Amino acid sequence: MGNVCQNKSAYQQVVDKPSNSFKFDNLGQSQKFKKRQSEDNQEILCENENLSLALTTENILSPNTKICQDDFKIIKVIGRGTFGKVFMVQKKDSSEIYAMKVLKKSQIHARNLRVKTKSEREILEKIRNPFIVDLFFAFQTEDKLYFIMDFLNGGELFYHLRKDLKFSEKRAKFYAAEIICALECLHSNDIVYRDLKPENIILDCEGHLKITDFGLSKQGLQNQSEEGKTYSFCGTPEYLAPEIITGQGHDKSVDWWSLVILYRFNNFQGALIFEMLSGRPPHYQKNRKQMMSDIVEKRIEMKPYFSVEAKSLLQGLLERDPSKRLGSSDSDAKDLKRHPWFAKINWDKLKAKKIEPPFKPIVSGPSDTRNIDKMFLNEPAKDTPQHQDLSPNTKKINHFDQFTYVANNATNNLTTSEISKK
Ligand SMILES: Nc1ncnc2c1ncn2[C@@H]1O[C@H](COP(=O)(O)OP(=O)(O)O)[C@@H](O)[C@H]1O
Ligand SMILES: [Mg+2]
Repeated sequence: MGNVCQNKSAYQQVVDKPSNSFKFDNLGQSQKFKKRQSEDNQEILCENENLSLALTTENILSPNTKICQDDFKIIKVIGRGTFGKVFMVQKKDSSEIYAMKVLKKSQIHARNLRVKTKSEREILEKIRNPFIVDLFFAFQTEDKLYFIMDFLNGGELFYHLRKDLKFSEKRAKFYAAEIICALECLHSNDIVYRDLKPENIILDCEGHLKITDFGLSKQGLQNQSEEGKTYSFCGTPEYLAPEIITGQGHDKSVDWWSLVILYRFNNFQGALIFEMLSGRPPHYQKNRKQMMSDIVEKRIEMKPYFSVEAKSLLQGLLERDPSKRLGSSDSDAKDLKRHPWFAKINWDKLKAKKIEPPFKPIVSGPSDTRNIDKMFLNEPAKDTPQHQDLSPNTKKINHFDQFTYVANNATNNLTTSEISKK
């Protein structure tokens, strides 16, 4: 069981460089979403059904208005990311509870991930989907970046998998269907997610899930190259698609490969005790180099206890040739939605969150943290400044243009007097 208890961290850089050469994804282009400005220059309208009406702070608030970390009271640590902590916070004026993800600028610069971080912020602003985390505010200090999102207190899927060891087929299917809707939305906006794993999927208090963490996502693939492929080596080893490892270029199909997490969900009835305990992805290996070579070469064994439909779905997703993989055609998610394993899912009801989740987390209120790992909750709930005095040049380099953000639904709570008061 020991192996599965560790949170897996995503590769942002090549550590064990496999045989082919890889290039990093630091020069990713921003997707050119069509935007229109209203006559009074206050609204930015995105011409896409999945993109919400978004207002930037620069547009809606007076020049003196500031949303900053002082507007939030830190209550607990609820997660740890690659570049900093995630806190449960309370907005001082409204008492609303949020999740606050903090990134250290020095670490972003040290790993040359400025463009990726800007992209994470852009995606969070632009995409509105019931199965993707909502961004309410974003702001920065000299040394850190802050994202204020809805606090999902039903727990990570990783936490529930570790606790329950197995999910029923019904439960696995429900989560898979909600994930498919989230990925479908991202793909239709020309975004590849690239980091699907149980740590990045969190349940809300009702038991619906949301995908979080767009730190590895890639925007604008269609503009990237003639074939619409990108070549960066990134992702989490267990879930890397073979084409990422071999460096032959990848596209949205990598997200369908990483649905192998279904394989873990699918450790349903009759699974071998060993596998239930380990909950391992199909190629799990302690030795990462060996694991990557297995992903590329080793035959995937379908367990006899998987239903015929589940086997067929997994086989379709675990197709090594990305052009033959289920979901690789222009129909994308529709190919998965049509698969017999999902025959009983009413997709319209699902998207409207009208299907009752098969599991409802126990929570007593929006600030209940019982589903969060104690390992995080026990950490000191403090956001300590990283540097005392930064040189003017470092401050200049450190500044992220157009990072500040206030979602229009967040401003509903800000009255005119509050805005002018600030
Ligand atoms: N909105 C949220 N609600 C609850 N927990 C969250 C939220 N966002 C992130 N977390 C927790 O913090 C962890 C790290 O955040 P994440 O965005 O995945 O950072 P990283 O990019 O470093 O992996 C997540 O795995 C999750 O446990
Ligand atoms: Mg993460």
